[in-house]
Amino acid sequence: MYKLSPSLLAADFGILKQQLEELDKANVPYLHLDIMDGVFVPNLSFGLAVVQSIRKYTKIIFDVHLMIIEPERYVEQFAKAGADIFCFHIEATENAKELIAKIKDLGMKAAIALKPATPISTIEELLPELDMVLVMTVEPGFGGQKFMQDQMEKVKDLVKLRKENNYNYDIEVDGGVNPETIKTCFAAGANVIVAGSAVMGAKDISARVKEFAEIAKD
Ligand code: DX5
Ligand code: ZN
Repeated sequence: MYKLSPSLLAADFGILKQQLEELDKANVPYLHLDIMDGVFVPNLSFGLAVVQSIRKYTKIIFDVHLMIIEPERYVEQFAKAGADIFCFHIEATENAKELIAKIKDLGMKAAIALKPATPISTIEELLPELDMVLVMTVEPGFGGQKFMQDQMEKVKDLVKLRKENNYNYDIEVDGGVNPETIKTCFAAGANVIVAGSAVMGAKDISARVKEFAEIAKD
């Protein structure tokens, strides 16, 4: 089922509460929270304190995308701060299997993200245990970059593997999604769509959310 996950990274942090209210009004199911450490990616964003404080204001599902090294160091804290989905990069840890078990023990959904150059083979044995796979369609680190069309092959392969093996994961795409590129994502078989600038940067957030929902129906 199609789910939109607007990325908070593109929000106006000066009016954060208002922006959350707008997303709630637009009935978006997920909120994508990009956590960056300046090491795994060459940028810093926000951390636990922000996640914890916005948790009070919305029931929206928190889709937390950790662009940090050794994400296992923070799994408890993010669970406590209110994360619902804990998505870590396979390139950032050597303990993926244990981490997935820990995420689930703590009551969160487990997801793994793949950078554009990382093949599916790096997570193939973990696929049966995953609730979601995130296919990066830009190099992680910054919003507002150009969508990488070639990543749709990865999405298609994930669809195929899911079908052949009766797996259950959702397929999320992240980076450069706009009203044009979203069509390619659906055509390839992605169902969870992250959009930062295209949603938070839209003049009318609700109108953009509706526009995406209409495209999803086609
Ligand atoms: C990039 C982040 C994305 C980013 C997407 O590292 O993972 O979630 O916020 O922003 P847009 O949709 O503007 O490309
Ligand atoms: Zn992200």
